[in-house]
This record gives sequence, C-alpha cells and structure tokens, in this order.
Amino acid sequence: MDKIVVHGGRRLTGEVVVSGSKNASLPILLSALLTSEPCRFQGIPGLADIHTTLKLLAGLGVKVDKESWVAGEGDIALQADNVTKLEASYDLVKTMRASFLVLGPLLARFGAARVSTPGGCAIGSRPVNLHLKGLEAMGATFEQVHGYVEAKAAKLRGAMIYLDLPSVGATENLMMAAALAEGTTVIENAAKEPEIEDLAGALNKMGAQVKGAGSDIIRIEGVKDLKGISHRVIPDRIESASFVIAGALTGGEVVIKGAEPGHLEAFFIKLREAGVALDSAAGSIRVRRPGAIKSVNLTTLPYPGFPTDLQAQMMVLMAVADGVSIVTETIFENRFMHVQELDRMGADIRLEGNRAVVRGVKGLSGAPVMATDLRASVSLVLAGLVANGTTEISRVYHLDRGYEHIETKLSKLGAEIERVRG
Ligand code: EPZ
Repeated sequence: MDKIVVHGGRRLTGEVVVSGSKNASLPILLSALLTSEPCRFQGIPGLADIHTTLKLLAGLGVKVDKESWVAGEGDIALQADNVTKLEASYDLVKTMRASFLVLGPLLARFGAARVSTPGGCAIGSRPVNLHLKGLEAMGATFEQVHGYVEAKAAKLRGAMIYLDLPSVGATENLMMAAALAEGTTVIENAAKEPEIEDLAGALNKMGAQVKGAGSDIIRIEGVKDLKGISHRVIPDRIESASFVIAGALTGGEVVIKGAEPGHLEAFFIKLREAGVALDSAAGSIRVRRPGAIKSVNLTTLPYPGFPTDLQAQMMVLMAVADGVSIVTETIFENRFMHVQELDRMGADIRLEGNRAVVRGVKGLSGAPVMATDLRASVSLVLAGLVANGTTEISRVYHLDRGYEHIETKLSKLGAEIERVRG
C-alpha cells in the first residue's frame, strides 16, 4: 500500500487549481441511467470513487467512454441504451456507499433493482432508511434478503415526502426517482448542499421538472422520459477548503483557482474569526495568515452550516491555535478517528462524546500515522505540513478516494511531500 511522506515546515505559496466535485460527480454520473440517450460529463475528477462508479455502471451494461478522463482531461461519455443488469453488488457498494444511489434511477426507469445495503463505514452506521421510506411512499416495495434490497415498482408515482433528517443521499435518490414518476413529488426538509443543486441542474437539462433545489422544499413534476445531456460538474468545495487550510496553517499565501467561494460561506466565517485573511473573487480564493491563529468553536451542521467534511481539517488548524476550541460533530457518530493520530503528533485534543476539546499547542511533531477515512487522511497530510520533522501517512487509499494528485498539487505550492509506492 502507498504511503505519503511529508517533511514539515515549508510555507506554501502560489496557485493551485481545484478539481471537479466528487460529491456532485457521483450522483450525476448515475443519473445517466435515467435516459437511453448519450450523456457527456465534463470536469469529472480523477478519483478512486469515480473509477468505482464507472465500474458499477459498466456492470449494469451502460456504455462507458472514459478515455479522456483516464488521460486527465475529465470528460466521460455514458449511454444507458442497453442496460442488461439491475444489480449493484456488495463488493462495489461496500467500497463506496454512494453506489446505493443507483436504486432511485433503476426503479424509476426499469421498475426493479437489487442493491446491496451499504452497511456501516468508519465514520458511522450510515443507515439508508430515509431512502427506502421515500421510495416506499412513491409505491416501491422492498424485500431485504442476504444483505440486499430487492426493490420493485410497477410505476413510481409522485408523493409527499418528509425527510426526518436533511439527508444528501436520500434527497438525491428521491429526486432521480421522482424525475420519471407519475405526478408530483414534494421532498420536505430536503438537503440543500450545492451538489443537490448541481444534480437538479443536470436533471432539468435532461428535461426533468425539478424546482426548489437548494431550498428545503423540492418539487418534482414527473415526465415520461428524459434526454441525453452535456454537463460540467461544479468545483469541489471540500478540496478547495482543504487547500485554504493548508495555506493558513503554513502561514504562506495561496490562491485556489476554479473554486466557488459562494459554496463556503460558513467555513469562511469561521476562518476569519480564527484570524485568517481571505479574499475571494469569482472563481478564486486567496488565503493569507497575517498573525497568530485564534481558537474558535464550531459545530458541524447540514448545509449551509459548517460542513462535517471539513471538521477534521479545521481541527488541525485549531490544534496549533492560541487558546481552546470546542469542535462539535452533529452529523456522524464516529468522525473523530483523526484525533488519536493528531495526538500522536503532539496535539492536545480530548474527546467528550460528540465534542472534541482542542487545546492549542506551540507546534506538532512529525510521526508515522495511519489514515482511517477520507477526510481524516487529509487532516494528517495538513498536520504533516506544519509538523516539525517527518510524517509518514499509511493507508493513503482513503485519500485517493477524494483528492486528485494531492501530493503533486501541494508540491507545486512548495510543500516537501512525496508518495512512496508500496
Ligand atoms: C453525503 O453522504 C456525502 N457523500 C458525505 O461526504 C457527507 O459527509 C454527507 O453527505 C453529509 O454532508 C456523498 O455525497 C457521496 P447523509 P450521505 O445521508 O448522503 C443519517 C465525503 O467525505 N442518515 O446526508 O451518506 C446519516 O447516518 C463524504 O465526501 C440516516 O439516518 O450523508 C448521517 O448521520 C463522507 N438515514 C446523516 O443522516 C438515511 O437514510 C447525514 O447523512 C440517510 C442518512
């Protein structure tokens, strides 16, 4: 298994270009199942999770042209005009739980699907009850056998659906299912993430009638069929923010190009409170840190609140801030696994249930550490950038799920970082 080795202490300066959004790409690629016509998607990041999604689609019989994407140009062409299988197997779903998002499109277009339930993952139990409850309201019936959901629906019909939690995945599955259902579907307490709006934009280009995406009430008028499209996905807000924190941590001056600052308002508020200087214009973010980092408290919340996907990264900034920060994680029940690794690097973080008390220290020291999940792994890279000495991060396959060539991008900014093939 590959390792990443970071020699800390370099100030990062220069420009970095952010990749397309992983969490917009996954549902949008799967939405190609809703039409028999060819779809072309641009700006798709070169990530392990995209590879898994393409493998899943090919396994269903979808034509996949990924030559440009493999070459790093980010274009993928798909055509679901000869779907021969309606099953997402356990080995794919356990690798990437977003595979569960095939359920809505397969039910909507073909009236049947056999999808493995995702099971838990490192950060939590990750149930899918809200996906199933919403689809049941639309007329689907389910049998759960041998770890699979066997779903049937002669014809999905529109329904009034209230989500107990503003679940991103449930909102996406239901939006795609409703696009081809008979009648009107209203999703109340819908997730409001930018990735939801991007999926709605792609569906509407296909001829769907989706209104209100980005608000907590989404209304979808079902249509008979959908057509092929060409669509460029939004930039990755979590990758953008991870580079902002890298610039702030090292006290350098970094410009993130191709970013969408409007997707990061809550994050910017917290960073400015912490004494980080941020200038943003359309398509770019400039970050500097004129003085000491100040401790701030933060609570992760559904969008537009502070993103849970930035909690681990922000914790590294707080670990070397002046004062004490309280970091409260309200979305996932086990998203503090980076803490014990950061403590091994000299951080002073104490856990109390879903709260972490982060006492700022003068500096961190490099150490061999282990990645446990996607965002925890990038927090260890960030810690390595400022630690005194060398940090060696193992199990970087977690990192490759969500960050495209991170060591190349950070090296270009002046970091001393390399990947050691294992
Ligand atoms: C999406 O996961 C993202 N993944 C996650 O990013 C992100 O952390 C999460 O949304 C929250 O923003 C993708 O978009 C591929 P949820 P998702 O359904 O859809 C509970 C990353 O690092 N819940 O909004 O799985 C659930 O347990 C990943 O890129 C139910 O109880 O998240 C969690 O506590 C990690 N029942 C909360 O809702 C359900 O049926 C939010 O989950 C569904 C969810």
